[in-house]
Amino acid sequence: MLILGLETSCDETGVALYDTELGLLSHALFSQVDIHVEYGGVVPELASRDHVRKTLPLVDQVLEEAGIVAQDIDGVAYTAGPGLAGALMVGATLARSLAWGWGVPALGIHHMEGHLLAPMLEADVPQFPFVALLVSGGHTQLVRVDGIGRYRLLGESLDDAAGEAFDKVAKMLGLPYPGGPHIARMAQNGNAQRFDFPRPMVNRPGLDFSFSGLKTYTLNTIADCRLSAELSEQDRCDIACAFEEAVVATLVIKCRRALRQEALKTLVIAGGVSANTRLRSALEQALAKEGARVFYPAPMFCTDNGAMIAYAGAQRMQAGLVDDANTPVRPRWPMEELPPLPGVEVV
Ligand code: KG4
Ligand code: ZN
Repeated sequence: MLILGLETSCDETGVALYDTELGLLSHALFSQVDIHVEYGGVVPELASRDHVRKTLPLVDQVLEEAGIVAQDIDGVAYTAGPGLAGALMVGATLARSLAWGWGVPALGIHHMEGHLLAPMLEADVPQFPFVALLVSGGHTQLVRVDGIGRYRLLGESLDDAAGEAFDKVAKMLGLPYPGGPHIARMAQNGNAQRFDFPRPMVNRPGLDFSFSGLKTYTLNTIADCRLSAELSEQDRCDIACAFEEAVVATLVIKCRRALRQEALKTLVIAGGVSANTRLRSALEQALAKEGARVFYPAPMFCTDNGAMIAYAGAQRMQAGLVDDANTPVRPRWPMEELPPLPGVEVV
Protein backbone atom coordinates (compact mmCIF):
# COMPACT_ATOMS: atom_id res chain seq x y z
CA MET A 1 0.00 0.00 0.00
CA LEU A 2 1.42 3.39 -1.03
CA ILE A 3 0.47 6.39 1.11
CA LEU A 4 1.14 10.09 0.62
CA GLY A 5 1.57 11.92 3.95
CA LEU A 6 1.13 15.67 4.55
CA GLU A 7 2.26 17.46 7.73
CA THR A 8 1.17 21.09 8.17
CA SER A 9 0.33 21.40 11.87
CA CYS A 10 2.77 24.19 12.71
CA ASP A 11 5.70 25.84 10.94
CA GLU A 12 7.00 23.01 8.78
CA THR A 13 5.49 21.72 5.54
CA GLY A 14 6.39 18.03 5.34
CA VAL A 15 5.44 15.65 2.54
CA ALA A 16 6.42 11.99 2.09
CA LEU A 17 5.59 8.75 0.34
CA TYR A 18 5.59 5.54 2.40
CA ASP A 19 5.08 2.09 0.95
CA THR A 20 4.15 -0.74 3.34
CA GLU A 21 6.34 -3.17 1.32
CA LEU A 22 9.25 -0.94 0.37
CA GLY A 23 9.39 1.57 3.25
CA LEU A 24 9.98 5.29 2.86
CA LEU A 25 10.30 6.18 -0.84
CA SER A 26 10.85 9.93 -0.63
CA HIS A 27 10.29 12.88 1.64
CA ALA A 28 10.58 16.66 1.45
CA LEU A 29 10.43 19.40 4.04
CA PHE A 30 10.14 23.16 3.96
CA SER A 31 10.87 24.90 7.24
CA GLN A 32 9.23 28.30 7.77
CA VAL A 33 11.79 29.32 10.41
CA ASP A 34 13.01 32.29 8.36
CA ILE A 35 9.43 33.61 8.04
CA HIS A 36 8.76 33.53 11.79
CA VAL A 37 12.21 34.35 13.17
CA GLU A 38 11.68 38.13 13.20
CA TYR A 39 8.57 37.68 15.40
CA GLY A 40 10.34 35.40 17.89
CA GLY A 41 7.75 32.64 17.44
CA VAL A 42 5.24 31.17 15.02
CA VAL A 43 2.64 33.57 13.55
CA PRO A 44 -0.35 31.30 12.78
CA GLU A 45 -1.72 33.27 9.81
CA LEU A 46 1.69 33.41 8.12
CA ALA A 47 2.11 29.68 8.75
CA SER A 48 -1.22 28.85 7.07
CA ARG A 49 -0.48 31.03 4.05
CA ASP A 50 2.91 29.44 3.53
CA HIS A 51 1.51 25.90 3.77
CA VAL A 52 -0.86 26.92 0.93
CA ARG A 53 2.15 27.98 -1.14
CA LYS A 54 4.45 25.03 -0.39
CA THR A 55 2.39 21.86 -0.03
CA LEU A 56 1.52 21.08 -3.66
CA PRO A 57 5.01 21.83 -5.04
CA LEU A 58 6.42 19.47 -2.38
CA VAL A 59 3.89 16.80 -3.41
CA ASP A 60 5.14 17.10 -7.01
CA GLN A 61 8.71 16.89 -5.73
CA VAL A 62 8.26 13.66 -3.72
CA LEU A 63 6.36 12.00 -6.58
CA GLU A 64 9.12 12.87 -9.00
CA GLU A 65 11.92 11.79 -6.65
CA ALA A 66 10.25 8.43 -6.06
CA GLY A 67 9.38 7.96 -9.74
CA ILE A 68 5.72 7.58 -8.80
CA VAL A 69 2.64 8.76 -10.67
CA ALA A 70 -0.49 9.86 -8.83
CA GLN A 71 -2.39 6.77 -10.03
CA ASP A 72 -0.06 4.57 -7.91
CA ILE A 73 -1.13 6.20 -4.63
CA ASP A 74 -3.59 4.24 -2.47
CA GLY A 75 -4.44 6.91 0.10
CA VAL A 76 -3.58 10.33 1.50
CA ALA A 77 -2.80 10.83 5.20
CA TYR A 78 -2.62 14.28 6.77
CA THR A 79 -2.13 15.74 10.23
CA ALA A 80 -5.62 16.41 11.65
CA GLY A 81 -4.37 17.68 15.04
CA PRO A 82 -3.23 18.80 17.49
CA GLY A 83 -1.79 22.02 16.09
CA LEU A 84 -2.71 25.44 14.71
CA ALA A 85 -6.30 25.36 13.41
CA GLY A 86 -5.64 27.26 10.17
CA ALA A 87 -2.47 25.34 9.38
CA LEU A 88 -4.26 22.03 10.00
CA MET A 89 -7.14 23.09 7.76
CA VAL A 90 -4.76 23.76 4.86
CA GLY A 91 -3.34 20.24 5.08
CA ALA A 92 -6.74 18.63 5.57
CA THR A 93 -8.28 20.49 2.62
CA LEU A 94 -5.40 19.71 0.27
CA ALA A 95 -5.19 16.07 1.36
CA ARG A 96 -8.90 15.48 0.90
CA SER A 97 -8.98 17.31 -2.42
CA LEU A 98 -6.10 15.22 -3.75
CA ALA A 99 -7.67 12.02 -2.44
CA TRP A 100 -11.04 12.90 -3.92
CA GLY A 101 -9.48 13.78 -7.27
CA TRP A 102 -7.49 10.53 -7.32
CA GLY A 103 -10.43 8.42 -6.12
CA VAL A 104 -8.65 7.15 -2.98
CA PRO A 105 -9.40 7.52 0.76
CA ALA A 106 -8.00 10.20 3.07
CA LEU A 107 -7.24 9.83 6.76
CA GLY A 108 -6.48 12.38 9.50
CA ILE A 109 -3.52 11.43 11.69
CA HIS A 110 -2.72 12.51 15.24
CA HIS A 111 0.51 14.53 15.13
CA MET A 112 1.87 13.02 18.36
CA GLU A 113 1.13 9.49 17.15
CA GLY A 114 3.19 10.42 14.11
CA HIS A 115 6.09 11.46 16.37
CA LEU A 116 5.67 8.38 18.54
CA LEU A 117 5.88 6.02 15.56
CA ALA A 118 8.77 7.86 13.83
CA PRO A 119 11.38 5.41 15.28
CA MET A 120 9.62 2.72 13.20
CA LEU A 121 11.19 4.35 10.13
CA GLU A 122 14.64 3.17 11.33
CA ALA A 123 16.24 -0.20 10.57
CA ASP A 124 16.22 -1.31 14.22
CA VAL A 125 12.63 -0.87 15.45
CA PRO A 126 11.33 -1.07 19.03
CA GLN A 127 8.86 -3.85 19.88
CA PHE A 128 5.58 -3.21 21.72
CA PRO A 129 4.95 -2.70 24.59
CA PHE A 130 7.17 0.26 25.41
CA VAL A 131 7.19 3.58 27.25
CA ALA A 132 7.37 6.67 25.01
CA LEU A 133 8.68 10.06 26.05
CA LEU A 134 7.16 12.62 23.69
CA VAL A 135 9.07 15.88 23.93
CA SER A 136 8.17 18.60 21.47
CA GLY A 137 7.41 22.31 21.40
CA GLY A 138 3.84 21.68 22.51
CA HIS A 139 3.98 18.44 24.52
CA THR A 140 5.95 16.66 27.22
CA GLN A 141 4.28 13.33 27.87
CA LEU A 142 5.14 9.87 29.10
CA VAL A 143 2.91 7.30 27.46
CA ARG A 144 2.58 3.54 27.82
CA VAL A 145 2.26 2.10 24.31
CA ASP A 146 0.83 -1.40 23.87
CA GLY A 147 0.32 -1.11 20.12
CA ILE A 148 -0.77 1.42 17.53
CA GLY A 149 -3.63 3.39 19.07
CA ARG A 150 -3.23 1.66 22.45
CA TYR A 151 -1.94 4.54 24.53
CA ARG A 152 -2.15 5.27 28.24
CA LEU A 153 -0.91 8.62 29.49
CA LEU A 154 1.43 8.11 32.46
CA GLY A 155 2.45 11.71 33.05
CA GLU A 156 2.75 15.07 31.38
CA SER A 157 3.91 18.63 31.87
CA LEU A 158 1.70 20.69 34.14
CA ASP A 159 2.88 23.90 32.45
CA ASP A 160 5.45 24.50 29.69
CA ALA A 161 6.48 21.71 27.35
CA ALA A 162 10.22 20.90 27.38
CA GLY A 163 10.70 22.38 23.89
CA GLU A 164 8.78 25.48 24.89
CA ALA A 165 11.09 25.91 27.91
CA PHE A 166 14.13 25.59 25.60
CA ASP A 167 12.60 28.22 23.29
CA LYS A 168 11.82 30.65 26.13
CA VAL A 169 15.25 30.32 27.74
CA ALA A 170 16.82 30.82 24.32
CA LYS A 171 14.88 34.06 24.00
CA MET A 172 16.16 35.21 27.42
CA LEU A 173 19.69 34.58 26.16
CA GLY A 174 19.06 36.52 22.95
CA LEU A 175 19.02 33.43 20.73
CA PRO A 176 16.66 33.06 17.76
CA TYR A 177 13.52 30.88 17.52
CA PRO A 178 13.34 27.88 17.71
CA GLY A 179 15.84 27.95 20.53
CA GLY A 180 16.46 24.26 21.31
CA PRO A 181 19.27 23.66 18.81
CA HIS A 182 20.89 27.04 19.68
CA ILE A 183 20.88 26.26 23.42
CA ALA A 184 22.36 22.82 22.68
CA ARG A 185 25.16 24.41 20.62
CA MET A 186 26.00 27.06 23.26
CA ALA A 187 25.87 24.46 26.04
CA GLN A 188 28.77 22.60 24.43
CA ASN A 189 31.06 25.49 25.40
CA GLY A 190 29.55 25.89 28.84
CA ASN A 191 31.14 25.08 32.18
CA ALA A 192 28.82 22.53 33.82
CA GLN A 193 30.35 23.16 37.27
CA ARG A 194 29.51 26.87 37.48
CA PHE A 195 25.75 26.75 38.16
CA ASP A 196 23.63 24.06 39.74
CA PHE A 197 20.05 24.44 38.48
CA PRO A 198 17.18 22.65 40.27
CA ARG A 199 15.72 19.45 38.83
CA PRO A 200 11.98 20.21 39.01
CA MET A 201 9.56 17.76 40.66
CA VAL A 202 12.01 14.86 40.86
CA ASN A 203 11.59 14.49 44.62
CA ARG A 204 7.83 14.18 44.32
CA PRO A 205 6.30 10.83 43.37
CA GLY A 206 4.58 10.49 40.02
CA LEU A 207 5.45 11.08 36.40
CA ASP A 208 4.33 14.65 35.79
CA PHE A 209 6.71 17.43 34.79
CA SER A 210 6.90 21.16 35.43
CA PHE A 211 9.38 23.46 33.72
CA SER A 212 8.10 26.91 34.65
CA GLY A 213 10.09 27.06 37.92
CA LEU A 214 13.28 26.19 36.06
CA LYS A 215 12.52 28.96 33.60
CA THR A 216 12.16 31.47 36.44
CA TYR A 217 15.37 30.18 38.05
CA THR A 218 17.15 30.75 34.73
CA LEU A 219 15.74 34.27 34.46
CA ASN A 220 16.94 35.05 38.01
CA THR A 221 20.40 33.66 37.26
CA ILE A 222 20.63 35.91 34.19
CA ALA A 223 19.56 38.89 36.33
CA ASP A 224 22.22 38.03 38.98
CA CYS A 225 24.95 37.88 36.33
CA ARG A 226 23.82 41.25 34.95
CA LEU A 227 24.18 42.86 38.40
CA SER A 228 27.95 42.89 38.01
CA ALA A 229 28.34 43.33 34.24
CA GLU A 230 26.69 42.74 30.87
CA LEU A 231 26.07 39.08 30.16
CA SER A 232 29.26 37.72 28.60
CA GLU A 233 29.43 35.01 25.95
CA GLN A 234 30.80 32.65 28.63
CA ASP A 235 27.89 33.50 30.99
CA ARG A 236 25.42 32.60 28.25
CA CYS A 237 27.17 29.32 27.48
CA ASP A 238 27.32 28.39 31.18
CA ILE A 239 23.62 29.19 31.68
CA ALA A 240 22.64 27.25 28.53
CA CYS A 241 24.67 24.31 29.81
CA ALA A 242 23.14 24.37 33.32
CA PHE A 243 19.62 24.69 31.91
CA GLU A 244 20.09 21.85 29.42
CA GLU A 245 21.58 19.62 32.10
CA ALA A 246 18.64 20.26 34.44
CA VAL A 247 16.05 19.46 31.75
CA VAL A 248 17.92 16.35 30.63
CA ALA A 249 18.43 15.08 34.20
CA THR A 250 14.73 15.59 34.94
CA LEU A 251 13.64 13.75 31.80
CA VAL A 252 16.04 10.87 32.52
CA ILE A 253 14.81 10.44 36.11
CA LYS A 254 11.17 10.37 35.00
CA CYS A 255 11.82 7.94 32.11
CA ARG A 256 13.61 5.54 34.44
CA ARG A 257 10.76 5.82 36.94
CA ALA A 258 8.15 5.16 34.20
CA LEU A 259 9.98 2.06 32.94
CA ARG A 260 10.25 0.68 36.48
CA GLN A 261 6.60 1.42 37.22
CA GLU A 262 5.43 -0.33 34.03
CA ALA A 263 8.05 -3.13 34.37
CA LEU A 264 9.22 -2.46 30.80
CA LYS A 265 12.72 -2.36 29.30
CA THR A 266 12.10 -0.37 26.11
CA LEU A 267 11.91 3.40 25.87
CA VAL A 268 11.11 5.42 22.75
CA ILE A 269 11.85 9.14 22.61
CA ALA A 270 10.37 11.31 19.89
CA GLY A 271 9.50 14.92 19.09
CA GLY A 272 11.80 17.87 18.46
CA VAL A 273 13.68 17.72 21.80
CA SER A 274 14.58 14.05 21.15
CA ALA A 275 17.11 15.43 18.64
CA ASN A 276 19.10 16.69 21.65
CA THR A 277 22.34 14.73 21.79
CA ARG A 278 22.90 15.28 25.52
CA LEU A 279 19.44 13.80 26.20
CA ARG A 280 20.13 10.81 23.95
CA SER A 281 23.45 9.94 25.52
CA ALA A 282 22.23 10.53 29.09
CA LEU A 283 19.27 8.19 28.47
CA GLU A 284 21.49 5.57 26.86
CA GLN A 285 23.85 5.61 29.83
CA ALA A 286 21.12 5.56 32.48
CA LEU A 287 19.08 2.83 30.78
CA ALA A 288 22.06 0.59 30.09
CA LYS A 289 22.47 0.30 33.87
CA GLU A 290 18.85 -0.96 34.06
CA GLY A 291 19.27 -3.44 31.22
CA ALA A 292 16.88 -1.28 29.18
CA ARG A 293 17.21 0.29 25.70
CA VAL A 294 16.25 3.58 24.15
CA PHE A 295 15.10 3.99 20.53
CA TYR A 296 14.79 7.30 18.69
CA PRO A 297 14.21 8.57 15.17
CA ALA A 298 16.95 9.88 12.88
CA PRO A 299 17.51 13.58 13.73
CA MET A 300 15.61 14.79 10.64
CA PHE A 301 12.54 12.77 11.74
CA CYS A 302 12.63 14.01 15.36
CA THR A 303 11.21 17.40 14.41
CA ASP A 304 8.03 17.76 12.35
CA ASN A 305 8.10 15.89 9.04
CA GLY A 306 5.85 14.19 6.49
CA ALA A 307 7.44 10.74 6.79
CA MET A 308 5.99 10.09 10.25
CA ILE A 309 2.49 11.01 9.02
CA ALA A 310 2.82 8.84 5.91
CA TYR A 311 3.99 5.94 8.12
CA ALA A 312 1.17 6.31 10.69
CA GLY A 313 -1.32 6.74 7.83
CA ALA A 314 -0.09 3.59 6.11
CA GLN A 315 -0.55 1.53 9.30
CA ARG A 316 -4.04 2.86 9.94
CA MET A 317 -5.25 2.73 6.33
CA GLN A 318 -3.92 -0.80 5.96
CA ALA A 319 -6.24 -1.68 8.86
CA GLY A 320 -9.12 -0.19 6.89
CA LEU A 321 -9.50 3.18 8.63
CA VAL A 322 -10.60 6.14 6.48
CA ASP A 323 -12.19 9.55 7.15
CA ASP A 324 -15.55 10.64 5.96
CA ALA A 325 -15.71 14.10 4.38
CA ASN A 326 -17.13 15.65 7.58
CA THR A 327 -14.24 14.79 9.90
CA PRO A 328 -13.13 18.06 11.53
CA VAL A 329 -9.53 19.01 12.31
CA ARG A 330 -8.74 18.81 16.04
CA PRO A 331 -6.45 21.64 17.28
CA ARG A 332 -6.72 19.96 20.72
CA TRP A 333 -6.89 16.19 20.67
CA PRO A 334 -5.96 13.84 23.55
CA MET A 335 -4.03 10.91 22.10
CA GLU A 336 -5.90 8.44 24.28
CA GLU A 337 -9.04 9.10 22.20
CA LEU A 338 -7.48 7.41 19.16
CA PRO A 339 -8.98 4.08 18.12
CA PRO A 340 -6.68 1.05 18.56
CA LEU A 341 -5.72 -1.16 15.64
CA PRO A 342 -6.79 -4.69 16.50
CA GLY A 343 -4.49 -7.51 15.42
CA VAL A 344 -2.41 -5.58 12.90
CA GLU A 345 1.25 -6.43 12.40
CA VAL A 346 3.57 -3.43 12.35
CA VAL A 347 5.36 -3.25 9.00
O1 KG4 B 1 8.32 18.26 17.30
P1 KG4 B 1 8.65 19.66 16.90
O2 KG4 B 1 9.37 19.88 15.61
O3 KG4 B 1 7.37 20.54 16.83
C1 KG4 B 1 6.29 20.41 17.68
O4 KG4 B 1 5.47 19.47 17.47
O5 KG4 B 1 6.27 21.19 18.65
O6 KG4 B 1 9.49 20.27 18.13
C2 KG4 B 1 10.00 21.55 18.09
C3 KG4 B 1 10.70 21.81 19.41
C4 KG4 B 1 11.15 23.26 19.57
O7 KG4 B 1 10.73 23.70 20.84
C5 KG4 B 1 12.66 23.18 19.47
O8 KG4 B 1 13.33 24.19 20.21
C6 KG4 B 1 12.94 21.81 20.03
O9 KG4 B 1 11.88 21.00 19.52
N1 KG4 B 1 14.23 21.26 19.60
C7 KG4 B 1 15.26 20.99 20.44
C8 KG4 B 1 16.33 20.52 19.62
N2 KG4 B 1 15.91 20.50 18.33
C9 KG4 B 1 14.62 20.96 18.33
N3 KG4 B 1 15.36 21.13 21.78
C10 KG4 B 1 16.53 20.78 22.34
N4 KG4 B 1 17.60 20.33 21.64
C11 KG4 B 1 17.56 20.19 20.30
N5 KG4 B 1 18.63 19.74 19.63
ZN1 ZN C 1 5.76 18.02 16.32
